[in-house]
Amino acid sequence: MRVITTIEEMQNTISHAKQDGQSIGYVPTMGFLHEGHLTLMEKAREENDIVVISIFVNPLQFGPTEDLSSYPRDFERDKELAEKKMVDYIFYPSVEEMYPHPSSITIKVNERTDVLCGKSRPGHFDGVATVLTKLFHIVQPERAYFGTKDAQQVAVVEGLVNDFHFPIEIIPVETVREMDGLAKSSRNVNLLPNEREQAPILYQSLLRAKEMILEGERNPQTVITFITEMIAENTDGKIDYIEAYSYPMLEEMTKLNGKFIIAMAVKFSKARLIDNIILEIN
Ligand code: PAJ
Repeated sequence: MRVITTIEEMQNTISHAKQDGQSIGYVPTMGFLHEGHLTLMEKAREENDIVVISIFVNPLQFGPTEDLSSYPRDFERDKELAEKKMVDYIFYPSVEEMYPHPSSITIKVNERTDVLCGKSRPGHFDGVATVLTKLFHIVQPERAYFGTKDAQQVAVVEGLVNDFHFPIEIIPVETVREMDGLAKSSRNVNLLPNEREQAPILYQSLLRAKEMILEGERNPQTVITFITEMIAENTDGKIDYIEAYSYPMLEEMTKLNGKFIIAMAVKFSKARLIDNIILEIN
């Protein structure tokens, strides 16, 4: 495994691999790797000749009051974990390498950003789409792997790839969870001990909601009220949003039907957690 820190070296390496006819699988990350990221790497390993991951905490996707400076980092540990998963290259650029001067062009995401995390994190998906446009051009993968824990991100990235004609297949991978159901996240280390104990309630409330729906409930508001009460009564977290939309279009629904997502964001003292379930009923 090789660590590459410059765009030029990454591009040269990729161009040699392509000349040799090798396929490239890519897992973009912000590091502090956990089982969720590692599952994406395993999938990429199975399906491609070369596996590239990137570790880059992208300032463009953090709002001014968000956790850019406290975002957890541990490159030495990440390197060991990636090596065990047979990753070929870690692209690990500095902020100066990726943004040597203020961007003269950024991507603006017009659809699907007025809901969920797009609404509570203005500009977040513009930052994600901009960095991925750069990273996709640098790594030029055939396949790129994304977790559905960030389901809105998957939908936005699919839009990006379609609208800008990237010849890249986006492969969604299901959320990996702790034994108690909490979705794995780099931010979980910022939970206080009592918050960590409460955090599994998020997924439990989604599972209870799923049961209600499978038993016939079709009113999104009833389901959302149920989840809201369960979280408010059993955690110290502050609800940022709990919403239900069609998936992947993220349009409002008056009745739960077809494929849809129920998603939430809950703020604890030093970590904002997100989770969701995607269901399909007819
Ligand atoms: P990051 O939060 O590091 O996540 C990298 C990838 O891992 C994303 O596709 C995310 O959905 C996936 N992932 C995170 N937790 C997961 C879990 N519990 N199960 C399965 N997959 C999980 O998402 C980003 O970074 C950034 O926005 C990025 C795409 C790198 C652009 O900067």
